[in-house]
Amino acid sequence: MLLRGERLGEISEDVLEFISSREADRWIFEADLLVDRAHVVMLKEQGLISPEEGTRIIAALDRISESELGEGEDVHEAIEADLISRIGEVGGRMHTGRSRNDEVATCIRIVLRDMMLSLMVELNSLTKTLLDLAEDHTETIVPGFTHLQHAQPTTLAHHLLAHADALFRDGERLGDSYPRVNKSPLGAAAFASTGFEIDRDRTAELLGFEGLVENSMDAVSTRDFVLEVLADLSILMIDLSRMAEELILWSTSEFGYIELNDLFASTSSIMPQKKNPDTAELVRGKTGSIVGNLMAALTICKALPLSYNRDLQEVTPHLWQSLSLTRGAVRIMNGCISSARFETDRLEAGAGVGFSTATELADSLVRVTKTPFRTAHQIVGALAASGETPSMEDLDSAAEKIAGIRPSDMGFSTGMLKDALDPKKNVALRDRPGGPAPAETARMLGERARRVAENERLVAEMRGRVDGALEGLRGME
Ligand code: ARG
Repeated sequence: MLLRGERLGEISEDVLEFISSREADRWIFEADLLVDRAHVVMLKEQGLISPEEGTRIIAALDRISESELGEGEDVHEAIEADLISRIGEVGGRMHTGRSRNDEVATCIRIVLRDMMLSLMVELNSLTKTLLDLAEDHTETIVPGFTHLQHAQPTTLAHHLLAHADALFRDGERLGDSYPRVNKSPLGAAAFASTGFEIDRDRTAELLGFEGLVENSMDAVSTRDFVLEVLADLSILMIDLSRMAEELILWSTSEFGYIELNDLFASTSSIMPQKKNPDTAELVRGKTGSIVGNLMAALTICKALPLSYNRDLQEVTPHLWQSLSLTRGAVRIMNGCISSARFETDRLEAGAGVGFSTATELADSLVRVTKTPFRTAHQIVGALAASGETPSMEDLDSAAEKIAGIRPSDMGFSTGMLKDALDPKKNVALRDRPGGPAPAETARMLGERARRVAENERLVAEMRGRVDGALEGLRGME
C-alpha cells in the first residue's frame, strides 16, 4: 500500500477492513477526481509543478476508473496509487501542499451540495403537488381534528396547505444551510496550512465554492455542516412522517377518506383482500433511521479534540444514507399523494360529525346575544353532552338554566341556529388571515404558487453556478 510503506510495514486484512472507508467512498469518487484536478491546475498555475507535469497528471486522472482501483484504506490513497502506477514518480507530485484531511472535507461538501440541490428541486415539486391539489379543493369541506377527535370543519385545501407550509420551511432550512456547506476547506492541508505558495481562492473558484472555510484547523476539524443538514433532513422527515401517518389513517375503512393508487400499496401474503399503505408506512419508518443518523453523527462528533480525528470518517456514511432515504421518501410521497383519490363525499359527510360546529354555535351566541364567550361555551357544552343536534328549544332551555337568558327572545333566530350548525357556513365565516374560508385559502395559494416558482428559479441559479464552474474545470488540461 502506498502510504504505510517504509513507516509501518504491511497491514493485515481485518485491520484494513476495519479502518477502510472504501465502501462509503464510492459516493465521493467523482468528487475526489475533481478535487485532484483543481488542486493540480492550481499547483501548475502557481508554478509549484511544471506545466508538463500538471498536464500529464491531469491526463492520467481522466483515465482513472473506479472499478479498476486497487488497494488503499480510502479512495484518496487508492487514486493516488493508481495515478503513480500509471505515470510513475511524477504522480507523486499531486499531493504537494495538501492532505487527505482537507481533501475528504472538500469531497463531502461537493457531493453534499449536489444532493441538497437535487433534494430542493424534489421538495419543491412535492410542495407544488400539494398546491395543485389544494387548488381543486378550496370548497371541499372536511373534518378538522385535534387530539384526533373531530374538532371543527375546515377544507381539504386548508389542510393540504398546512402541510405545504411545513415543506416550505423545510426547503428554507436547506437553503439556509447551503451557503455554509458550499465553502472550500481545500488548502488547509493536515490542519496547519502549508508553506507552499498555494492559492486557496483559486481552488475554491475552480470547484464552484463560494468562499473558504478559512481557519485551516477549523476547515479539517468541523463536520457541523453535516450535522446541520442531518438536522434539516430529520425535521423534513418528521414533517413527511406526519403526512404519511394521515395517509395511513385516512385510508383505513374507519376513516375512508382516501384511496391510495395501487402502485403505492401492497397486499398480504395470506389475506387476499388486503390493500396496505406500505409506502406511507415506510416513509414513517425511515424517519426513525434518519433521526437515528443525526443522533449517531452528533454523538460521534461530541467531545472530539481538534483537529482531524479518524472518528470523523464514521460520520459520513450516515450523511449519505440520510440523503438518499430522504430523497426517496420525498419522491414516493409525491407520487403517493398526487395519485391518491380523495373520497370527498365521505369527507364532507364527516365534517359535521361529533358536533364539530359547536364552536361556531357558541360564537354565534356571543355575536347575537352579547353573552360572554365563556358563558356561551358552557351553554353549548351542556347541549353537546346530550349528544343530539340541538333544536331552538334545547338552546333556550340550556341557556336559561345556565345563564338565565333565552336566545330566541334576544334576536337569535332558527335560521341563525341552522347556519351555525352548517359546516360549510362555519368555514365561510373563517376568513381572517390563514383561515379556511375559500377566498382566503385562494389568496394563500396564489402567494405560495409564486413562492414555488421563485424557489425553482433560485435553486436553478445555484445549480447553474456549480455546474458552470465544474464544467470549466473539466475542460482544463
Ligand atoms: N477516509 C478518511 C475520512 O473519511 C479520509 C481522511 C483520512 N485522514 C487521515 N489522516 N487518516 O475521514
